[in-house]
Amino acid sequence: MIPGIFAAGVVTLESIEIFTTHELLSTTPTVYFLCQGENKIILPDVKKKSSLYTFKGEESWQPLTEFSENKCKRCGFYEKDTLKSDDVFDEWELCPSDFKSDGRNIHFKDKELNATFLCLQCKDSTHPSEGAKEKKNVVVVVIISSILSIICIIGVVAGYKYWRKRKRQQEQARFLKLFEEGDEIEDEFGIENV
Ligand SMILES: *[C@@H]1O[C@H](CO)[C@@H](O)[C@H](O)[C@H]1NC(C)=O
Repeated sequence: MIPGIFAAGVVTLESIEIFTTHELLSTTPTVYFLCQGENKIILPDVKKKSSLYTFKGEESWQPLTEFSENKCKRCGFYEKDTLKSDDVFDEWELCPSDFKSDGRNIHFKDKELNATFLCLQCKDSTHPSEGAKEKKNVVVVVIISSILSIICIIGVVAGYKYWRKRKRQQEQARFLKLFEEGDEIEDEFGIENV
């Protein structure tokens, strides 16, 4: 798979536990999952609070939803209400990047519910792109530090060459001066010898 390109990610419900029910009169709640713009997925087994329901992922009502692109969906768990509008356990942004490397995503809301979602394609699709990003950063750091090292080496070499040149010039100047002095002395001797 090409990293960063998103393939369809099927989201199934692995387990759910509800900690409350919102209906006062009805004894058995009707719990459903819904992503905005999609169909209601009724969870026919979830009837009691404080009991953990686990699923295989191949139940008749699965999957819950499907990601076709690397984009979040506004989803939630709700309870049907006979008199007023439906009650909300929780509503949040379900994102492909929320799925850990084992493909799981646990959504917990205090006093309401704890649900575990599974999406194996999500972890395949989102995590390699993160890895690729990290690799890209490492490459950039390596390139920049190489360039800096080269600039440093060039600087040191140029500085050394300049220092050698200066030193040679100074030595030449001193040598010439010595010669000139020597000439003067010779000249003086020459005059005296004549
Ligand atoms: C939620 O459910 C998962 C799976 O059953 C469990 O591992 C986790 O500890 C639960 N979290 C809380 C806060 O109850």
